[in-house]
Amino acid sequence: MRINATAYRTIWVAQDGWSVEVIDQIKLPHVFETQTLTSVSEAARAIKDMVVRGAPLIGATAAYGVALAMRANPSDAALDAALALLGATRPTAINLQWALKELDLAVRLLPPEERAVGAYARAAQICDDDVETCRQIGAHGLKLIEEIAATKNGEPVNILTHCNAGWLATIDWGTATAPIYMAHDAGIPIHVWVDETRPRNQGAALTAFELGQHGVPHHIIVDNAGGHLMQQGQVDLCIVGTDRTSARGDVANKIGTYLKALAAQDNDVPFYVALPHTTIDWSIEDGVADIPIEERAPDEVLTMQGRCGDEVVQVGIGAPGSPAANPAFDVTPARLVSGLITERGVCAASQAGLASLYPEKAS
Ligand code: MRU
Repeated sequence: MRINATAYRTIWVAQDGWSVEVIDQIKLPHVFETQTLTSVSEAARAIKDMVVRGAPLIGATAAYGVALAMRANPSDAALDAALALLGATRPTAINLQWALKELDLAVRLLPPEERAVGAYARAAQICDDDVETCRQIGAHGLKLIEEIAATKNGEPVNILTHCNAGWLATIDWGTATAPIYMAHDAGIPIHVWVDETRPRNQGAALTAFELGQHGVPHHIIVDNAGGHLMQQGQVDLCIVGTDRTSARGDVANKIGTYLKALAAQDNDVPFYVALPHTTIDWSIEDGVADIPIEERAPDEVLTMQGRCGDEVVQVGIGAPGSPAANPAFDVTPARLVSGLITERGVCAASQAGLASLYPEKAS
């Protein structure tokens, strides 16, 4: 992704060769700044506070967190402590546990003096693989957009997305946004409805920022507008991401995704979910019952961040004294999902669909 004409990934090793640079997503879209992570505790804090967020980027940051831990102290005890600290940061995105398992596998059997180098190499590989995976998701999703575009007589294909499953949630390209960027680059007229995505406004702040940087026409809409737009025939396709996908194709994604899927079904709007294999939890079948849902601080509901002149300020929006509840994700059952767009192709949201693409996992 180019930001002001400079190409960026969302995470990289800094010029010193060891500290880890990330884009500070709390400050976007008001200020584009990076943060330098120099220890495992800073990496864990960045994930928990959502300086970095989005399932694949959470996993990549955790991987570099282990590398930072091994650089400071390559003992077994330090490795165990790093895995425990990072593993407790955010419960829903399975990429976190996947990446930590990968790092454990990569370094546990190495002699202590080789562990840091091994961990940095595996973290870098996870990032490179994610870029390629998202590119492939984009290529498969592009075909769906092309099919719809062929029916529109040159009118834009209207795509609705929720939260940010974009470049900022991954290393590059995004999952849900990769087909959108590719379609736009291929000259297909595209227009995106961007759900604002309360409480943290990842749509209004991050997806809109990305689309704007890439020149993709879009409008930010309030979270409750999607159903109406679908009824009015103004949505051709929904594409969202997922933080954890069960073996039968239930998908946990940012709170509010389920309501969009219900509205899409009622209006015959195709509802696709884009995901890399790192988001599939093969140990869970019933996502509604068994995917852990993160409950975040009530403050995220009771306050809003915004620009006031040149300043970024936080304002209260709730009735003073009223408590808030803040479930951060919901689960959309597979029956409401038209298909899963993966790096291996598009499949039905079902056990058989996923098994057809990942036979080695589905035994
Ligand atoms: O709480 P967040 O901002 O980490 O939630 C992110 C999402 O829900 C994304 O849609 C999901 O991680 C998919 S990212 C490719």
